[in-house]
Amino acid sequence: MKKSILFAMAILGVALLFASTAIYAGTKVPDVVKMEKDAYKEHTKGIVEFTHKKHAEDYAKKHPDLYKDGCGACHHDKDGKPLKNLKAGDDVKDCIACHKKPGEMPRDEKKALRAKKASREEVKKAELEYHAEAIHENCKGCHREFKKKTKSRAAPTTCSQCHPTEKK
Ligand code: HEC
Ligand code: HEC
Ligand code: HEC
Ligand code: HEC
Repeated sequence: MKKSILFAMAILGVALLFASTAIYAGTKVPDVVKMEKDAYKEHTKGIVEFTHKKHAEDYAKKHPDLYKDGCGACHHDKDGKPLKNLKAGDDVKDCIACHKKPGEMPRDEKKALRAKKASREEVKKAELEYHAEAIHENCKGCHREFKKKTKSRAAPTTCSQCHPTEKK
C-alpha cells in the first residue's frame, strides 16, 4: 500500500478515536430517572420516578422565573456554584457523588448538633452531606416557591405525592 494512503488512514483513525471519546464523555439521562441508588442498603420509601425531561425542558420554559440558572437550578459544581451553561451531552455527576451519605440525617446526630449549639450554617452543612436532605431541599424548595407564586398545587410537597406508596 502507498505510504500516503497509510498516512491518511492513520489520521482518520485518530480522528475517529477523538470523535468517539467526545460522544462517550457525556452522560445520557433518561426522560424519567428512577432515583434508586446503590449506596442505599435499602430505600425505606417508594422510589421516586423523577420526570427529568419535563423538568429540564417543559417546566423550564413554562416557569422561567424558577429557572434563572437553567440546568443550574439543580446541577452545580464541586463548590456548589450553579452549572448555568450545562447542556445535553455534557458530563454530569450524580447528586450522591458529593452528597454521599444515604438517607436523611439521623435524629441522634441532629440532637447532638443542637446540644453543642451548632450554628445554623454548621447544621445545614452537616445536613447537606446526606443525600435525601440535599434532594429534598432542592425539590421541595422550588416546589414551595412555585406554590407561593402561583397558588397552584401542581408541584408536590407531601411525601406520598413523590414517593409511590406501595413499596417495591
Ligand atoms: C429540576 C432539577 C433538574 C434540572 C432543571 C435538570 N436536571 Fe439533570 N438531573 C437532575 C437529577 C435529580 C438527576 C439525577 C441525578 C442522580 O441520580 O443523582 C439528573 C441527572 C442528569 C444527568 C445524568 C447524570 C447521571 O449520570 O446520573 C444528566 C446528563 C443531566 N441531568 C443533564 C441535565 C441538563 C443538560 C439539564 C439542563 C438542560 C438538566 N440536567 C436539568 C435534576 C435536574
Ligand atoms: C460535585 C459535587 C456536587 C454535586 C455533583 C452535587 N452537589 Fe449539591 N452541593 C455541593 C456543594 C459543595 C454544596 C455547598 C455545600 C455547602 O454550602 O456546605 C452543595 C449544595 C447543595 C444544596 C444547598 C443549596 C443552597 O443554596 O444552600 C442543595 C439543595 C444541593 N446541593 C442539592 C444537590 C442536588 C439535587 C444534586 C444533584 C442534581 C447535587 N446537589 C449535586 C456539591 C455537589
Ligand atoms: C426549579 C424548580 C423545580 C425543581 C428544583 C424541582 N421541581 Fe418538580 N416541579 C416543578 C414545577 C414548576 C412543577 C409543576 C409544573 C407544571 O405542572 O406546570 C413540578 C412538578 C413536579 C411533579 C408533578 C408532575 C410531574 O412531572 O411528575 C413531581 C412528581 C415533581 N415535580 C418532582 C420533583 C422532584 C423529585 C424533584 C427533585 C429531584 C423536583 N421535582 C425538583 C419545579 C421544580
Ligand atoms: C418533591 C418530591 C419529594 C417529596 C415531597 C418527598 N420526597 Fe423523599 N425523596 C425524594 C427523592 C427524589 C429521593 C431520592 C431517593 C429515592 O427516590 O428514594 C428521596 C429520598 C427520601 C428518603 C431516603 C431514601 C429512602 O427511601 O429511604 C427518605 C427516608 C425520604 N425521602 C422520606 C420522605 C418523607 C418522609 C417525605 C415527606 C415528609 C418525603 N420524603 C417527601 C423526593 C421527595
